[in-house]
Amino acid sequence: MNRIPEDKIDEVRTSVNIVHYIQQFVNLKKAGQNYKGLCPFHSEKTPSFVVSPDKQIYHCFGCGKGGNVFSFIRDYEKLSFTEAVQKAADFAGISLPKAEPVSPEKENYFQQLYAINETACSFFENNLWHGQYKIHLNYFKERGLSEETIKKFRLGFAPDSYEKLLNQLKTKNLVLEEAVKLGLLQKRESGGYYDKFRYRVIFPFHDVSGKIIGFGGRKLRDEQQPKYLNSPESPVYYKGSILYGLHQGISAIREAGYALLVEGYFDLLRLVNSGIRNVVASSGTALTEQQAKLLRRYTRNVYVAYDGDDAGRKAAIRSAGIIEKTGLNAFIVPMPDGEDPDTFILNQGTGVFEELIKKQLSPLEFQISYFFTLNENPALEEKEAFIQEILNQLTQLPNQVKTGLYLHQISERLQINESMLIEQFNRYKRQARKQAARQADLKQQQSEAQPQEEATPPKKVQAGMYKAEEGIIALLLNSPPPLRHELLNKVTLDLFENEIFERLFEFIAQECEETGQLDAAGLPDRFEDEPELAQTISALAVMSFGDDAKFARDCIFQLKRYQLEKRAREISALIKEEADSGEALLHHNQELMRLRRELNELSKQQKSAKGF
Ligand code: UTP
Ligand code: MN
Repeated sequence: MNRIPEDKIDEVRTSVNIVHYIQQFVNLKKAGQNYKGLCPFHSEKTPSFVVSPDKQIYHCFGCGKGGNVFSFIRDYEKLSFTEAVQKAADFAGISLPKAEPVSPEKENYFQQLYAINETACSFFENNLWHGQYKIHLNYFKERGLSEETIKKFRLGFAPDSYEKLLNQLKTKNLVLEEAVKLGLLQKRESGGYYDKFRYRVIFPFHDVSGKIIGFGGRKLRDEQQPKYLNSPESPVYYKGSILYGLHQGISAIREAGYALLVEGYFDLLRLVNSGIRNVVASSGTALTEQQAKLLRRYTRNVYVAYDGDDAGRKAAIRSAGIIEKTGLNAFIVPMPDGEDPDTFILNQGTGVFEELIKKQLSPLEFQISYFFTLNENPALEEKEAFIQEILNQLTQLPNQVKTGLYLHQISERLQINESMLIEQFNRYKRQARKQAARQADLKQQQSEAQPQEEATPPKKVQAGMYKAEEGIIALLLNSPPPLRHELLNKVTLDLFENEIFERLFEFIAQECEETGQLDAAGLPDRFEDEPELAQTISALAVMSFGDDAKFARDCIFQLKRYQLEKRAREISALIKEEADSGEALLHHNQELMRLRRELNELSKQQKSAKGF
């Protein structure tokens, strides 16, 4: 695990010239802006190993290996990441105060925390199945959970005692002070410790790999407080970054192609118990961006099925907003008043719930109908305030097609002239962009102006989406800030077809948005566990360009044309399928004509365009 502070790692990386470092091992010759040599990772006769002094990145076009100076040290000298940073620091003469002696200890420290959690988890779990407390298995059984579900989630029981877990931890010689940090024990003022979870049923939290990182405990007596006692944040548990049930649900989520997001532990368990296994729970609080990003690793679609009360509906809208902002598709399942998924399934059965899922609404539709439930005959000001609110939300949407669709819906449902709406939206969007640009400018002024690059022949876009998408990423990695900024304004996530480039685009766009700049050499570290992405970055970052603006225009043209053609193909297919309905046919033909016009327009623009 990497325990050197982030900024120190950056300092080391920027202090070492990768060319000098690699020259210790490889004979490098200047070739244009880059250096070339025989690849040290595979045997070859003609050099395909390229090192870019500008980007501080290397890439071998023969074997595909690439990255920054740390990746090189790691791969060439067979060291861990931390050791590689240490090595590079030595090379640069930087001292890392608490490097090696600390990390093995810390490694141990984390293992210790996991061991304590695991001991507690087994203890709680065992109580349900053996010995004096096993009557409490009935609580879960009475709530309709099968033994299989109970075991799968390692549910447990904490007895009404101040010392049972304490004794267990003592027997195992675990450090009690650490169990306090994990929220399992409480310190007595008079000295000594006592159990924190008492007379509760227990829901252990797993991380994605299955390690126990915390617990939730539900009260069993009315007068107990709170209803659910949850572990505090600790070195192994950050609230906003895990999702209850994800570990058990990953494969089902992948299979189903979407994740159901619910509020509560019992909602999740009810669904799993009913055979709907692609579920995660946000555990009461609204979703965080980190949680949405975690979900994005496994799916593009999230269905929010929160409680059917005001709090639940508001939280569903908030969570859906965060999901969309992360570039995922969000849907909201309209839960009837007073129900949550748990009670709904108990009352109506799984089949009816599955039907309810199919009635899913887009977050905007949901928000609009919720607005009308709250305000049956909204006054003008109420309508106006509501529109302002949703238009501002829409400026955050990364997907242009969806934005257009939403604007259309708003105009229909709220009976507002669409072009006025679009005008207003564009104003908000400009404001949002200006603000982002101001921040970017500020950052840029702080970093030095880049020297003009020497001219190289313009690059041609090769046929096919793959090349155009690759081109966009290469441009983003290699362009001066103004062009990059322009590109980020013109290209949207939905134009991508290839997962790798889509993810890289998303990542780069976010990085630029958050920091206002892009440091290509820092990127390989961010994709340490995803060599395919890291290698794509290094391959593209060592490229050099000629007429960047023309190349950019060509790439964008290809992307847009492809999307329009794809849509046209889809509609043609629909026309063939639905030959019986005259109205649909007319509608489709009109859309097809519109697409053709757009395609023509696009080609014309492309031919006449001079600037970017
Ligand atoms: P609910 O109060 O809706 O509980 O809280 P529930 O899940 O329906 O539980 P039952 O059916 O009454 O047993 C929803 C979720 O909010 C979190 C828990 O994750 C809970 O499942 N929560 C709620 C807390 O973390 N602490 C609380 O005190 C209450
Ligand atoms: Mn409930």
